[in-house]
Amino acid sequence: MIDLPFTFTLPMPQVIPSKVDNHIERRLSALRGQFLDQDTYSKMLATEDRLIYEVYEIKRPEVEGELLMGISIVHPGKVGKEFFMTKGHFHSVLETSEVYYCLRGEGYMVMETPEGATSVEVLSPGKVLYVPPRWGHRSVCTSRLEDLVTFFAYPGNAGHDYGTIELHGFRKLVLEGVNGPEIVDNPRSQ
Ligand code: F6R
Ligand code: ZN
Repeated sequence: MIDLPFTFTLPMPQVIPSKVDNHIERRLSALRGQFLDQDTYSKMLATEDRLIYEVYEIKRPEVEGELLMGISIVHPGKVGKEFFMTKGHFHSVLETSEVYYCLRGEGYMVMETPEGATSVEVLSPGKVLYVPPRWGHRSVCTSRLEDLVTFFAYPGNAGHDYGTIELHGFRKLVLEGVNGPEIVDNPRSQ
């Protein structure tokens, strides 16, 4: 049977899709080993396993030809000087891309290739970001009070490789500096 076209809305200001099949919550404990200031991480975790980000997924078959869509919401906050962020990943099928559309908040997409190229793009409302094939990606919320909210779409067969980032981290980090966010080299991934 052929699938029928469908629509959904992203009502402001919450921007939770009107059609949701899956809601993922990722807490501080899911980001073990990723934040630079590990002492502060351990102290924060001992107090509370804070909610760092959420994903609302619209399910489609995970096969070539399909597009998987959803909303990613990274909450504001920091571990030491490092802003709250997603785990980040490469797509298991490296030659797959992704498009992000920023709806609310301020932040960055931190990206790198397995060969060591790096790129960090600003995310702000109205901005569309194209993540080409091969680029691992992590979103970082730098708003003080507001969530970073993005819509995303990527190929159904992409899959997710979290292990590479869990082992080595990203080459670039986003830290709070004296004049706002700063992009710095990750001393643990050089
Ligand atoms: C899918 C994708 C986004 C992220 C979401 C959460 O390929 O890039 O939907 O999955 O922003 O981040 P992760 O998956 O890194 O926990
Ligand atoms: Zn992705």
